[in-house]
Amino acid sequence: MQIEIDQVRLLNELNTLSTYTDAEPVRDGTSVTRVVFTSDDLHARAWVKELALAEGFSIREDAVGNTFIRWTGIDPELPAVATGSHIDAIPHAGMYDGTVGVLGGLEAMRALKRSGLRPRRSIELVVFTSEEPTRFGIGCLGSRLLSGTLDADRADAMKDKGESTLADVRSAAGFSGTLSSVRLPDNYYHAWVELHIEQGPLLEREGVPIGIVTSIAAPAGYRFTITGFGGHAGALLMPDRKDALCAAAEMILSIERHALATGAIDTVATVGVCDVYPGAVNSVPSRVVLQLDIRDTDPARREGVMQAVRRDCEEIRKRRGFTIAEELVNADSPAQCSLHTIQYLEEICREQGIACKRMVSRAYHDSLFMARIAPIAMIFIPCRNGVSHRPDEYASPGDISTGTYVLASVLAKLAAE
Ligand code: GLV
Ligand code: MN
Ligand code: MN
Repeated sequence: MQIEIDQVRLLNELNTLSTYTDAEPVRDGTSVTRVVFTSDDLHARAWVKELALAEGFSIREDAVGNTFIRWTGIDPELPAVATGSHIDAIPHAGMYDGTVGVLGGLEAMRALKRSGLRPRRSIELVVFTSEEPTRFGIGCLGSRLLSGTLDADRADAMKDKGESTLADVRSAAGFSGTLSSVRLPDNYYHAWVELHIEQGPLLEREGVPIGIVTSIAAPAGYRFTITGFGGHAGALLMPDRKDALCAAAEMILSIERHALATGAIDTVATVGVCDVYPGAVNSVPSRVVLQLDIRDTDPARREGVMQAVRRDCEEIRKRRGFTIAEELVNADSPAQCSLHTIQYLEEICREQGIACKRMVSRAYHDSLFMARIAPIAMIFIPCRNGVSHRPDEYASPGDISTGTYVLASVLAKLAAE
C-alpha cells in the first residue's frame, strides 16, 4: 500500500481554515481567535463538513456539536478506529493547534482512500467542540461529555462572560437534544489516535520529527473570587480600603512560589485570567475573579501545591479581612497511552527511517478524555521554538506531512485488526 500525503492541498486547507478568525492580522505570524459557537467557529465547521462530504464521508453531529466524519469500513458493525482534534482557538492563537489533527486526520483518510485501501473497521474523524476553555472556563467540553466525565446538567448550566448558558448558546448554534445523549456507548471505538503539534521545544531541539506520547499530564482548574471593599480612588482613605486586587496579587505570587517549590519540572501553574471589578482606573477594586490552571504528571504533587496555596489564602484572608471563595472547575487524572499503538508507531517510523522519541504531553488534549473510553495514542510534530497559543506558532510543511503520513499508516494498521 502506497500512502501519499497531498502536502500542497493540506497546507492550503490549513491556510484557509486560519481565515475563519476574529483576530486582527499581525505582522509576525497568523493570529487566530475562534471561540466556540461564535460565527467564525460555525463557519469553519461548515467548511470542514463540506470538505468531508466532497470526499463521500458521512457526517453526524451530537447535541454539543461534536462532529463525526465517518469512512465506513467493510465490517461496519465492528468498533471504529478514530482520530481527530479541535478547530477552536484561544484569543490570538496560532493556526496549527488542533487544526493539524483535524485537517491532517482528514488528509490521512483521503490518502488511505487514494491508496486503494478498503478498511475492515470504519475510520472516523472527530472534530471536538470547545477543547479550549475560553468561553466556559473548562477545556475539552466535547470530549468530557463524550466520555461521561462531565455531568450533563452541570454542563448545560455553565455560563459565559455574558451570562449566557451553554444550553442557550448551543441551541442558538443549532445543536439541540439532551447533553446526556452525547456519551458514547462502551466499546464504541477500537482505538483512538490524535495528531498534534508538540507545543513545547523538545522535538525541535533534538531534531526529531515525530514524538510518540506515552502519557498526558493531569490538569486542574480553579476559580477564586476575592471580595474586599472598594470605592472612590481619591476619597477612600488607604487604611479604610480592602483592595481585592492587592490580595489577588499576593495570591498569584503564592501560587508561583509553591509551584516552583516542588522542584519538579512537571509542576506548572498559571493565573491567566484576572477579572477586576468594577474595572475603572479611579475605583478601588472591590472584587477580583482569578482563574488558575495547574498541572502536573503527579496529581498528588499538584494537590500538595493547592494545599500550600490554601494555607496562604487563609493567612491573606485573615490579615486583610477579606472573603476568598474557591471553586473547583476540574481536577483530572493523567492518561496513559496504549503500548500496543505506541509499538505500531515505532514500527512505522523504523520502517520509514523516521526518527522518533517517546515523550510526555504536558499540554492537555481531547485524548485525555478519550483515554477513558478507548486505548489512545498521540503523535506529536515539532513546532518552532516550542511556541504555541501565540500567533507566531509554526510547524513546517514537511513535519506536518510526516505526522500525517504516520497517522495514516497507524490508522490503516488499527483498522485492519
Ligand atoms: C490545551 O490547549 C492546553 O491548554 O493544554
Ligand atoms: Mn490549545
Ligand atoms: Mn490543541
